[in-house]
Amino acid sequence: MNPLRLVVLISGRGSNLTALIDAANPLVQLSAVISNQAEAKGLLTAQAAGIPTAVLDHRPFSSRLAFDQALQVLIDRYQPEVVALAGFMRILTPELVAHYRGRLINIHPSLLPKFKGLHTHQRVLAAGLTEHGASVHFVTAELDGGPVILQAKVPVLPQDDEDSLAARVLMAEHKIYPQVIHWFAQGRIRLEENQVFLDDQLIQSPVVLNLE
Ligand code: GAR
Repeated sequence: MNPLRLVVLISGRGSNLTALIDAANPLVQLSAVISNQAEAKGLLTAQAAGIPTAVLDHRPFSSRLAFDQALQVLIDRYQPEVVALAGFMRILTPELVAHYRGRLINIHPSLLPKFKGLHTHQRVLAAGLTEHGASVHFVTAELDGGPVILQAKVPVLPQDDEDSLAARVLMAEHKIYPQVIHWFAQGRIRLEENQVFLDDQLIQSPVVLNLE
């Protein structure tokens, strides 16, 4: 069986990318890492691991659609079976999302559908919650609204600030993203009519990875 061709999109630090590289899954081929920010640290990580990298700066483009069209051409050059957003801080056009339907996934620092959007840790603390976490989901036209594949939960501790909570959630992210990619590589995951199937079973609610 040929390894799963995976393209990862980043905008910055790239710690989730590092987790995917460190997983060293023989069923996965990291075909390329693409960033919209030339200074993204994750590009250096990818280069050090011998993964092809590309930068497509969004700023010279006259519209979101024009950028996404160029991005699509660039991504498709690597013929990915799965495209993973890993801290790619761009809102995608419905056209791009439709093109990769069923093979475009994202990691988000909250227990979706709670806390879509930005500043999730700050908002969880402000709400006084005792539980937080991370989600990997299929990308659909609704921002952070696509069907969730896998989550991991972490406690919110009384002494937490935004940084300590973010660090705990990030550790959970680094476990669930490689797991989901592994499931794809094994051919176990699919999206059908906006619902997730794992091993041909409809997932009624997101699978939760036990971090113990
Ligand atoms: C991660 O926490 C990821 O969940 C978040 O950006 C961070 C990227 O970190 N993504 C989003 O908020 C997307 N809505 P990384 O560059 O170290 O992987």
